[in-house]
Amino acid sequence: MPVITTIDDLRRIYKRRVPKMFHDYVETGSWTGQTFRENCADFEKIYFRQRVAVDIDGRSTASKMIGQDVAMPVALAPVGMTGFQCADGEIKAARAAGRFGVPYTLSSMSICSIEDVAEHSPYPFWFQLYVMMDTEFVSRLLQRAKDAGCPALVVTLDLQLMGQRHMDLKNGLSVPPKLRLPLLMDLATRWRWGLGMLGTKRRFYGNIIGHAKGVENLTSLYGWTSKQFDKKLDWEKVKQLRREWGGKMILKGILDAADAKMALQVGADAIIVSNHGGRQLDGAISSIRALGPIMDAVGDRIEVHLDSGIRSGQDVLKALAMGASGTYIGRAYTYGLGAMGEAGVTTALEIIQKELDLTMALCGRKSIADVGPDILHIPKGFSGDWQ
Ligand code: FNR
Repeated sequence: MPVITTIDDLRRIYKRRVPKMFHDYVETGSWTGQTFRENCADFEKIYFRQRVAVDIDGRSTASKMIGQDVAMPVALAPVGMTGFQCADGEIKAARAAGRFGVPYTLSSMSICSIEDVAEHSPYPFWFQLYVMMDTEFVSRLLQRAKDAGCPALVVTLDLQLMGQRHMDLKNGLSVPPKLRLPLLMDLATRWRWGLGMLGTKRRFYGNIIGHAKGVENLTSLYGWTSKQFDKKLDWEKVKQLRREWGGKMILKGILDAADAKMALQVGADAIIVSNHGGRQLDGAISSIRALGPIMDAVGDRIEVHLDSGIRSGQDVLKALAMGASGTYIGRAYTYGLGAMGEAGVTTALEIIQKELDLTMALCGRKSIADVGPDILHIPKGFSGDWQ
């Protein structure tokens, strides 16, 4: 086993161990992949200010997200079909996150159901909702999440329809996967994955199959989402959801200051500045570029979180220094899960925490609360000087 010191090390092992169809589902963005690439590349355009001769003894990465204590302000983002990156993937990720002391967000499109995760992981988790046309189904989902003790609802607003990801169509991505020749050939070298999947009964969308009317066999994610996801979703409906849920609500997929102001008006507890990891509107700006104007518009009145492009603790620190009070990782932990299961998610979190702590120290800061824009060199016009 190679020595693992970076998220990229996990990504390389992940690529070897997970069938191409599911690897490609994670590793691509929509259309040309411009936003997917720039999410990461734009982090590299920001520099740290090195400070010296500062007492940096007794540091901590602990903080809070929506009032909840976290070991570091890095949550696991909702990732659909996690149970096909590794058998029982959602349960393993939830356990690793809980043990580490960071929130886990379960996707609506998970393989393990809400009840299953609640039963097999002792840690409370957040639930992510895709708003669907079947309002009775949505109400039941909310009730199921409440019954499972989920302390927060993350409502994703940037996927009323799916951004086209070419590789999924070319690979014939389906749940469960069809046993065609390319997958069978893949399994010859990825036997560990295959054995895991043979050993579990969790191979369907656990929150949907048997719960949504008329959906007994859901193989085509594209076909189903195009029929079921609510294209009429608007702020009035978000307000109704807010009332129906009653608890903490986080709105995910905000990239524009005007939408951030709307999120504030509907009474959200936090927003996630996100372009869905470059999987939806290709050609949209990176999340880290979008953060500045959104902080200016609402940062003093609502908690602002960020995801998309985070691959290191340094990226986390840059987002925090620019005003975010929380961040999420999607691919970074998925690599860990596909590479090494539950232990891989823990490794991903440990790598990120170590990088965050060390970088904070070399910038002369001891705690997350002390981190501000003065630890960065941000290029002029970074947040846009658009016409
Ligand atoms: C996602 N994302 C996502 N978001 C969501 O709200 N519900 C979901 O079911 C999914 N599914 C999903 C699958 C995969 C494979 C990926 C990579 C992403 C988006 C996710 O929550 C998050 O916004 C991004 O992953 C953040 O970008 P990074 O960290 O992957 O660069």
